[in-house]
Amino acid sequence: MGVEHPFDRLNIAVPSDKFIREEVRTVDTGQAPRPTLVDLSASDFRRNLPEALNIYVQAMNYPRGTERSRAPMWTEHTTRRGWQGAAVIVSREGRQHLAGVAYGYRGEAQQWWQEQVRHGMRAGGWPEAQIKNLLSNYFELTELHVRPDEQGQGFGEALLRHLLRNRTEHAVLLSTPEVAGESNRAWHLYRRLGFHDVVRHFTFTGDARPFAVLGRALPLHADDGRHA
Ligand SMILES: CC(C)(COP(=O)(O)OP(=O)(O)OC[C@H]1O[C@@H](n2cnc3c(N)ncnc32)[C@H](O)[C@@H]1OP(=O)(O)O)[C@@H](O)C(=O)NCCC(=O)NCCS
Repeated sequence: MGVEHPFDRLNIAVPSDKFIREEVRTVDTGQAPRPTLVDLSASDFRRNLPEALNIYVQAMNYPRGTERSRAPMWTEHTTRRGWQGAAVIVSREGRQHLAGVAYGYRGEAQQWWQEQVRHGMRAGGWPEAQIKNLLSNYFELTELHVRPDEQGQGFGEALLRHLLRNRTEHAVLLSTPEVAGESNRAWHLYRRLGFHDVVRHFTFTGDARPFAVLGRALPLHADDGRHA
């Protein structure tokens, strides 16, 4: 038998128009229900936007109030082609809450993020043909966040793998803050799953902090990046 991975301990729920689902109870009634990974419809997501944004602000350590400026943007994102979202729900002290949330969509010309990345790639010396090739067919992993008190249990990896599983695009791209020595959970996760540098130390317009744009080819196979 293979080594159990944290992902294997999650329930995977089928897509639903309900967000907070009935927990699948085990016969052992003494056990807390397992964390559940759910696909989100756009309306699920919008209904739970305040809690999702709360996770984002905590996870990214942004100042309180950032939620307000992000809410319209995240709402608009749900209308984009190929939008897909997922969440991990856990039960703690008899209450269900969101432990993690992630979404992305198909990258398209004219989108602000794509234009920024194009500039960054040009400045980084990428040949025009390769820029065109990459940016014509990719999934943008826009957000991936786990509540700080729920991190380190494999939820981030489960969300990432789940979102990528059935994508038809040729590649996935994301941006993440630069961190000294690539030493945080996000960098560990992305490197282990085979993400390469696309642009480094890039400053997006309106944000002074340096970011990295990372990417990898799709598909991501189930065994890619698994712990031995
Ligand atoms: C990045 C994030 C989504 C990952 O989710 P998670 O559920 O915490 O991650 P996982 O449990 O799947 O573990 C991720 C990796 O971090 C490693 N890790 C655990 N503690 C760590 C620490 N203190 N420092 C660095 N890496 C650590 C884990 O070991 C794992 O890597 P490995 O399995 O290769 O060893 C989550 O930590 C998060 O929301 N971070 C803050 C927000 C953020 O950076 N989001 C991504 C922005 S693009």
